[in-house]
Amino acid sequence: MELIITADYDELSRAAADIIAGCVRERPDCVLGLAAGATPVGTYRELVRLRQQGKVDFCRVRTFNLDEYYPIEPDHPQSYHRFMWEHLFSGINVRRENVHLPRGTAPDPGEECRRYEAAIEDSGGIDLLLLGVGANGHIGFNEPGTRLDSTTHLVQLARETVAANARFFDRPEDVPRLAITMGIKTIMRSRRLLLLASGASKGAVLATALEGPVTPGVPASVVQLHPFLTVIADRAAASGLQTEGRQPVRLGGGGAAPPIGTRCAADAGRSAGLTRGRRGRADPGAWLQVHLPVLDGPHVDTDVWFGTPCLTKARLVGST
Ligand code: F6R
Repeated sequence: MELIITADYDELSRAAADIIAGCVRERPDCVLGLAAGATPVGTYRELVRLRQQGKVDFCRVRTFNLDEYYPIEPDHPQSYHRFMWEHLFSGINVRRENVHLPRGTAPDPGEECRRYEAAIEDSGGIDLLLLGVGANGHIGFNEPGTRLDSTTHLVQLARETVAANARFFDRPEDVPRLAITMGIKTIMRSRRLLLLASGASKGAVLATALEGPVTPGVPASVVQLHPFLTVIADRAAASGLQTEGRQPVRLGGGGAAPPIGTRCAADAGRSAGLTRGRRGRADPGAWLQVHLPVLDGPHVDTDVWFGTPCLTKARLVGST
């Protein structure tokens, strides 16, 4: 796990956009997994800016969103289709036919889930998946209690998720109760995860997800087991974290926060007793199966850290 702590939301958004743009530059036909919600809005704004400056080209990029309400029309003001076009797609040169979201109008949601999962697989799999985290620990719309081996499925939204979404709808009865979401297995099959958390309201859940036990009760905790996880949190969201490598770290008022801009505990994984996997065609899925027999994973050409889930790298970035 790589943890990047930024001074504020704007820095978080720039850092996330840089990582996504870097992925696109490295592989122009990459497959991006994308999230809706408040957290990535700044990241999308930065990506649009990078595109306008000609610094990144999305013409061959394919995208799959994590989720969509069900049922909902694509042009409904609160649909994730509409959200994504407003905040990102209309500002970059992605091709319409390369954009994928679950269809909120599909007559048979079960069939739509199978179609969506197959489309992700047919694309070759997600290279980089952007995630937010719900205050109750959900990722995508995988609510607490979701099976860790779930693929794309129809979900009944948790009461707290419906309540959190109510701010976007005129009337409480308009808030959708169902959604189609990539499953936890779908998420974990992505080659790289980029989890964003901003604001004090995410402090407790981020600490539980990253430092607590891996459990279906906190779906976001499963990301600890992903071999290529980057977490970007602003100071407020990181304030509950105890771990910084093996050193306790304090952020914010009165604490001995390391100065922003310093790199801390790089490669703490080595000192934590992790051993490096052989270079070559490694199989993170095999590694995941050690911990969670229900999961299987992607095959990627790169190094893999084997061992207990652990922070391998942490750094603070920012201008203040
Ligand atoms: C959205 C999604 C959700 C959100 C999460 C956080 O596509 O999958 O898991 O990422 O609810 O939402 P915000 O960013 O609004 O706090």
